[in-house]
Amino acid sequence: MNTVGPMLYEGKAKKIFAAARPDQIVQYFKDDATAFNAQKRGTIVGKGIVNNKVSARLFRLLEEQGVPTHFLERLGDREMLAKKVTIVPVEVVIRNVVAGSLAKRLGLRVGDAIRPAIVELYYKNDALGDPLVNDDHLRLLNVATPGVLRELRDLAHRVNNVLQPFLAERKIRLVDCKLEFGVYHNKLILADEISPDTCRLWDMVTGDPLDKDRFRQDLGKVEESYQEVMRRVCD
Ligand code: TMP
Ligand code: ASP
Repeated sequence: MNTVGPMLYEGKAKKIFAAARPDQIVQYFKDDATAFNAQKRGTIVGKGIVNNKVSARLFRLLEEQGVPTHFLERLGDREMLAKKVTIVPVEVVIRNVVAGSLAKRLGLRVGDAIRPAIVELYYKNDALGDPLVNDDHLRLLNVATPGVLRELRDLAHRVNNVLQPFLAERKIRLVDCKLEFGVYHNKLILADEISPDTCRLWDMVTGDPLDKDRFRQDLGKVEESYQEVMRRVCD
């Protein structure tokens, strides 16, 4: 492993290690997969390699387009050097197409376009099952001020506006995407990962999901779909 210091944290899909510099960390991407708040568990062989490579490519693209991210360098197959941020405990979901929990909650038809894209905020708290919250809830929880919430929404739209055309050129429809942000030197930057684990990615020709829904819903061809996303995004 191309890690340097001790492990600081282990999540469901990644481990975080200390880096040589105190203001940096190393993300190590695992093959472990969970769904439905870890009630379903499994392994997607090679997923860590795919998610590291895809995230690195997309973070680099976003940086080129002026969106600040924590990405510094890909150190190896499964290791990424990143800035050490204080994560804002909010999962910012941006949606271009009806799917998943939105379809269920509001009774909307899966596959219908959403224009303009909508943003949803979830309170990142495993014990509570990451509940959907509004701005007032996040203020009540002292998680984010109105100014920070405005910035999170604005950044989510900017990320979406960069990723959507880039993926469309590769015949991938960006259905939705979960983003996490962190504070680094008093500035909000994009953190975590952008991968088939955290986005819904549909083949533009067949409409087939190429993302973690294949694991969540037991659709088969899980590994193959992750490899296909890597091929289209990174080649
Ligand atoms: P949802 O439709 O289940 O709310 O998911 C919206 C997006 O967020 C989808 O791209 C999958 C992603 N997501 C995560 O990255 N982590 C999660 O824990 C969940 C529930 C969704
Ligand atoms: N990763 C999440 C979990 O295990 C869920 C998901 O991505 O569907 O809770």
